[in-house]
Amino acid sequence: MKILFVSLGCDKNLVDSEVMLGLLRDRGHEITNDEAQAEIIVVNTCSFIHDAREESVQTVLEMAELKKNGVCRLLIVSGCLAEKYRDEILEELPEVDAVVGPTAYDTICEVIDKSLEGERVQSFESADRLPLVKTRRVLTTGGYSSYLKISEGCDKHCTYCIIPKLRGNYRSVPMDYVLEDARNLAASGVKEINIVAQETTTWGKDIYGEKRLHVLLKELCKVEGIQWIRLLYCYPEEITDELIEVIRTEPKICHYLDMPIQHSSDAILKRMGRRTSRGELETVIGKLRRSIPDITLRTTLITGFPGETESDHADLKSFIQKMEFDRLGVFTYSPEEGTPAERMEGQITEELKSSRRDELMLLQQHVSAKKTAAMVGRTLEVLVEGRIPEEGVYVGRTYRDAPEVDGYIFLNAEEEIISGDFVTVKVTGADEYDLTGDVIYEFTE
Ligand code: F3S
Repeated sequence: MKILFVSLGCDKNLVDSEVMLGLLRDRGHEITNDEAQAEIIVVNTCSFIHDAREESVQTVLEMAELKKNGVCRLLIVSGCLAEKYRDEILEELPEVDAVVGPTAYDTICEVIDKSLEGERVQSFESADRLPLVKTRRVLTTGGYSSYLKISEGCDKHCTYCIIPKLRGNYRSVPMDYVLEDARNLAASGVKEINIVAQETTTWGKDIYGEKRLHVLLKELCKVEGIQWIRLLYCYPEEITDELIEVIRTEPKICHYLDMPIQHSSDAILKRMGRRTSRGELETVIGKLRRSIPDITLRTTLITGFPGETESDHADLKSFIQKMEFDRLGVFTYSPEEGTPAERMEGQITEELKSSRRDELMLLQQHVSAKKTAAMVGRTLEVLVEGRIPEEGVYVGRTYRDAPEVDGYIFLNAEEEIISGDFVTVKVTGADEYDLTGDVIYEFTE
């Protein structure tokens, strides 16, 4: 049958979508992007914050309309929203034929079979189950770059976060599964893998008795065809000397680290249930920069957490100015039902949250401009992502740019280049977030 798949939410959810697509393809179904032709529609949803839930609900409603009027026979809702509202979705939306939880996505083919027989199916497993599927994923990220998910769930229980309730405690994907996934990706032409999980740095502890991300990375570096390995979602308190050393010495590992820290004020970090202090954050950032001088550090922050005072906000501003992150995103705090933070005193108005976010982003804009200006004159390897015909330039990413969230480099090239190629580029210009450069044909740095 022809199946349309809509994937919402984070890159971890996207990997689940790609696995489901792989299972559906193996079962003989055809994947389509054409809404008018789709006989089965699957919406893999997110339920992280209010806006993400809204988007998920809207998408399901749109697909329900399509089902009323088109050729679609089944509408299936999977993922985190399905986990949270499994009964409500079936009760309130008669067009939905099945709901599938985020730890039961590997049941998608059986769910479809049962639904086609007329059953309204709920397929859920314990939040602590780890689906292990050896299928070749259907890649949705362009063929040369992909996410590699190395664990599921999270044990950290930050007071604002609903994810452990939706996705369970931390479970590492065993090494042989991760490596097989990576080899399959390389065999399909993937050159860049972006390592993701709710938290990547404690990988291995639950199954091998100790953190072994550094060991996994060394094995991943041996996979032929993979040229860039990028680490996302690292917890500052879990970064080990071994990990820093492997990033420093393995040529395939990008000198890039995404380390969401959320805040810098000790009082707020404590209320958030984070396990670091400002002093410890400064220590780990200093160590990373001393060991790997050209490392690009990315972080994300939450502003407007309950009880955040002017002095906490000032602390964060001074931290941003002092630490000079290369990349930084700011989210306004969103109270989530069922989390401890939702019940905390001192909730802050949306207006104040937004104005604090804008202030932080403005500060970061100056930091970022300084950082990009410092790249001018350097020679870098660039992964080409496409061409902008109207402007006659190519667009790509350097080791400093993770897909989707960071900047780009715009390239002038004398010869035609193809998406997925690596080229050598001399950086000639910069604005706050992006670079420009000329393709050169000899690497000089
Ligand atoms: Fe959303 Fe679930 Fe990811 S809540 S952010 S899709 S883990």
